Amino acid sequence: MTAGRLLAVSDLHVAHPENREIVRRLRPGPGPDWLLVAGDVGERVADVEWALRTLRERFAVVVWVPGNHELWTPRNDPVQLRGEQRYRYLVEMCRRIGVLTPEDPYPVWEGEGGPVTVVPLFLLYDYTFLPPGTSTKEEALAYAYQTGVVGTDEVLLHPDPYPTRDAWCRARVAETERRLSALGQVRTVLVNHFPLVREPTRILRYPQFAPWCGTELTADWHLRFNAAAVVYGHLHIPRTDRYGGVRFEEVSLGYPREWRRRGPAPDPVRTILG
Ligand SMILES: [Fe+2]
Ligand SMILES: [Fe+2]
Repeated sequence: MTAGRLLAVSDLHVAHPENREIVRRLRPGPGPDWLLVAGDVGERVADVEWALRTLRERFAVVVWVPGNHELWTPRNDPVQLRGEQRYRYLVEMCRRIGVLTPEDPYPVWEGEGGPVTVVPLFLLYDYTFLPPGTSTKEEALAYAYQTGVVGTDEVLLHPDPYPTRDAWCRARVAETERRLSALGQVRTVLVNHFPLVREPTRILRYPQFAPWCGTELTADWHLRFNAAAVVYGHLHIPRTDRYGGVRFEEVSLGYPREWRRRGPAPDPVRTILG
């Protein structure tokens, strides 16, 4: 039997018909490939479900983490749940269709390069990735509003029942840190929508956007939790880097206007192991 691979992709943004077509064409290789989907599948629950169900029918295992877009409450979605309730609703949908989430036991990849514990993370951001020239969240937000580069999350991503998005982030980080510490010395693949370290945001075209991109609280997680690789998206800047000797893969597809610059028919899926 052909061995499978551990594959990853993110930012499928399937509300765009061209991206939906790419998802329709996504197929595993000859072996039992796993697919890690690192968030921003879409905004409406029905779109997210369509994409994950389509992928689940083809891949041996599908693991999803939420991006900020899944956590939006757009007016045109019949599902008007907000914040934590919306996240839980998406987790329940994933359970129904057999997709793993950050709320499930961490699966262990036993294929080539394994064993590694695959850790889907939902951590959000807390406005600590400050753009140059600012030293507090308030200054960073003021700068963003002045220059008109403000994360749409400010309008559409409700943190209920938490008072703020950063409070939600801190709660998720604390809970996840406990769970990861209990794993012991196993090797991991960490999967998060946002980069776990600040460095990849330094190449953003608009540094004002960095506050919506992660948290300093996870700066050493790739080392503390023995990551063989870290998978993320959100920046729409696909690339491979190494920090502290650990491979970081930004695996986003992005919007059609972005991927078209890289060629006519993108193959957005990246091999992480195998
Ligand atoms: Fe995205
Ligand atoms: Fe995103």
